[in-house]
Amino acid sequence: MNDLLASGFLAPGWGWYVAIMTVVSLLACLWILRANSTKKEHSAEAQLHGQNEWDGLREYDNPLPKWWSNLFYLTVIFAFGYLLLYPGLIVTNGLLGWSTASRYRAEVNEVKAETDPIFDAYAKQDVKTVSVDNGALKIGGRLFQTYCVQCHGTDMRGSKGFPNLVDNDWLYGGTPEAIETTILEGRNGVMPAFTAALKPEQITDAAQYVLSLSGRSTVAAAVGRGEGTFKQTCAACHGPDGKGNVALGAPNLTDNIWLYGGSLATIVETVTKGRQGHMPAQKDILGEARVHLLAAYVYAQSQEQAQSQLQSNRKP
Ligand code: HEC
Ligand code: HEC
Repeated sequence: MNDLLASGFLAPGWGWYVAIMTVVSLLACLWILRANSTKKEHSAEAQLHGQNEWDGLREYDNPLPKWWSNLFYLTVIFAFGYLLLYPGLIVTNGLLGWSTASRYRAEVNEVKAETDPIFDAYAKQDVKTVSVDNGALKIGGRLFQTYCVQCHGTDMRGSKGFPNLVDNDWLYGGTPEAIETTILEGRNGVMPAFTAALKPEQITDAAQYVLSLSGRSTVAAAVGRGEGTFKQTCAACHGPDGKGNVALGAPNLTDNIWLYGGSLATIVETVTKGRQGHMPAQKDILGEARVHLLAAYVYAQSQEQAQSQLQSNRKP
């Protein structure tokens, strides 16, 4: 089938509508040409066409000049030839089988033939080895700037709801393997909403306790009450000490690094309404070989940032 119809861009009936209109218009052109060029012979005593004269120009009732009508015949013949070879009528693919989609596929395959061997060579090495290969990091960086920046930012530092990838604080773990699994399979963070399970006061108390975990000033009485709620309701995912759980993507609540925000109001909102961070799986979009390079790039960047942080901490 024609690609335009196969893609569902046009409903099937419209293909025939276009085809019939096109052929009828071309036939009508031929008919008009014939009607205007063969009726009369060139004659010296051609008649004025009505009384049409304007500014010294007069219109005679002559047949169309031969060179002109022949040129027009040629264009109509060209049109039929074109429609025979190319998918202009929509209901056929044309004898050449050409289409923009097939051309696109051919170009993609050409590029793949060129780049696949490069990717495959890296795919055979482990992420850590690839992460110190400058050529690989260049490719990984370009892939990141194309496919990841809309969520994680050009500087990889993320934004509200989209994690910073270079702060060495990981929801799902920062080993090369964990990073690669995250990108390949995607991740769904599920922080349940507690509107039904907890009373508003209980939520505020739990939030006060969460504030205390990162050493911030709080209302002592509320923290005491909130601790009980936390141990009962939240510890299952965030851990008894609030340090999180990389198997669930439950964030560490003690490090004062926040995915959604660490103010009392935001924490209350998080606990009341829940949060569902979604990292889209890239396996079927980019393929394993490209994800491998991306994992190496993210790992290398996070290591580099950690290094420079260490160095700046060491400075007096
Ligand atoms: C549509 C937005 C979106 C895009 C595009 C996206 N991500 Fe993510 N990514 C997220 C979100 C949201 C999370 C956090 C998921 C959660 O909250 O559980 C995440 C998490 C991650 C993590 C885990 C971070 C951690 O702390 O464990 C890594 C690594 C990651 N993304 C890498 C990438 C790479 C590489 C790309 C490009 C191929 C990419 N992401 C594209 C939204 C996105
Ligand atoms: C079922 C497991 C689960 C339970 C139970 C749970 N959480 Fe969470 N929580 C998560 C996950 C997973 C996330 C990350 C959500 C995301 O990535 O979008 C999260 C996120 C959060 C955040 C946001 C942290 C940030 O960096 O912005 C806070 C605050 C929080 N939880 C507090 C609590 C409190 C308080 C409770 C108990 C009332 C609780 N959680 C119970 C799994 C859980």
